[in-house]
Amino acid sequence: MNRRFAPAGRLRGGVTPPADKSISHRAALIGAMCDEPLTVRNFLDAADTRSTLDAVLSLGAGVDQREGELVIRGAGLHGAFEPTNGTLNVGNAGTLMRLLPGWLAGQASGLWTLDGDASIRRRPVGRIVEPLRAMGAQVDAFEDRLPPLTVRGGAPLKGVEHRMTTASAQVKTCLVFAGLLASGETRITEPGPSRDHTERMLARARAPVEREGLTVRVRPTDELELDEVVVPGDPSSAAFLVAAACVIPGSRITLREVGLNWTRNGFLRIAERMGAVIVGELEDPPPEAGQTGTGVTPSADSEPAGDIDVSSSPLVATTVEPEEVPLTVDELTLVALLGCFAEGETVVRGAGELRVKESDRIAGVVDGLRGLGADIEASEDGFAVRGGDGLRGGTFEALGDHRLAMLGAIAGLASREGVEVRGMEAADISYPGFEEHLETLTRAG
Ligand code: S3P
Repeated sequence: MNRRFAPAGRLRGGVTPPADKSISHRAALIGAMCDEPLTVRNFLDAADTRSTLDAVLSLGAGVDQREGELVIRGAGLHGAFEPTNGTLNVGNAGTLMRLLPGWLAGQASGLWTLDGDASIRRRPVGRIVEPLRAMGAQVDAFEDRLPPLTVRGGAPLKGVEHRMTTASAQVKTCLVFAGLLASGETRITEPGPSRDHTERMLARARAPVEREGLTVRVRPTDELELDEVVVPGDPSSAAFLVAAACVIPGSRITLREVGLNWTRNGFLRIAERMGAVIVGELEDPPPEAGQTGTGVTPSADSEPAGDIDVSSSPLVATTVEPEEVPLTVDELTLVALLGCFAEGETVVRGAGELRVKESDRIAGVVDGLRGLGADIEASEDGFAVRGGDGLRGGTFEALGDHRLAMLGAIAGLASREGVEVRGMEAADISYPGFEEHLETLTRAG
């Protein structure tokens, strides 16, 4: 589906962005591991999270959808079933592909194959295959590195110490799930902090999971207790609207009930550094992370949320350093967009992970924005954009990637001549209703 986004006047008014995708995936999976029903309020209803609900249904959990809430009747930590046709279709959901094998690997019996769409078949899974095998799991993947991925239950898992070379919340979560079913202690250490939704949700479920700096320690348990999860708005979805308000002169918008967890608010910090005016109670990193702030102190087990107001203002270039990347990994392409409107050269480095997301996002954003008139160059692990002139407009390929589709749309609103996005339907993966929200904000302008 192709869609044209014409240059917009200022954005005004407010919207409530969709529920957080990462937290919704975790609520469905952890709910499936519980013995008692879990009520999830504001579960994300989008293609990716529907794949997770389908998977937990095939694994023996029950799912009741009611107005505004979802009740998951879990199969229990040790109770995952083998689906009748043996294959779990994860669709486009890389998070499901990486998280679920940790739980399945610790089951007493069963054989599961996880497969998905053409994009999933290009997503690396060696990063979970290798540590799961070290724990004793029976897992196989195509050439040990790509889906389809097969997990066989029945192998006793043992706790290991795993040091990750790249920060990844997906790998961390997979190993935390396996650690709940392994003998002894599992220790997972990241090179830098990544999103911590799993640790917070499991702390509320009274799981034996502790954090010590960059290490997560997990001990085995038989039961998880969690009766309610309220999913905040997704900061990664909100980021598209934040970016629009930053680059379209005269804009002033309110985004309601957005997740403000410090491990997800890196893009807001970067946009502020570039000159954007953002008002909201952003959570600060904990003191041991060595950064100071004036926001809210993190809690071990809850997800902070609140409204943010964003106003446009002149932007200046910035450099995003490798240690900032995990805290803004899904929003980095928007830094390129802001860079087109900022005075000076904006550089992102240490973001090689972008090459193995739903698409090669470095190539996608660099080719895409260059086609709209940007002065942008790719490097192996990032990009550099010389800004100040904004964007002319043209055609933008979404490459089947939801985040590129939405980036193209915002580029169109901010451009001089408009942008035709090829493959706009990809937005439904994480943000159904995206175009309606743009309409609400542009109409009120
Ligand atoms: C996610 C973690 C990130 C992110 C992805 C969702 C998660 O991936 O890019 O969209 O829910 O854990 P990595 O953990 O691989 O960096």
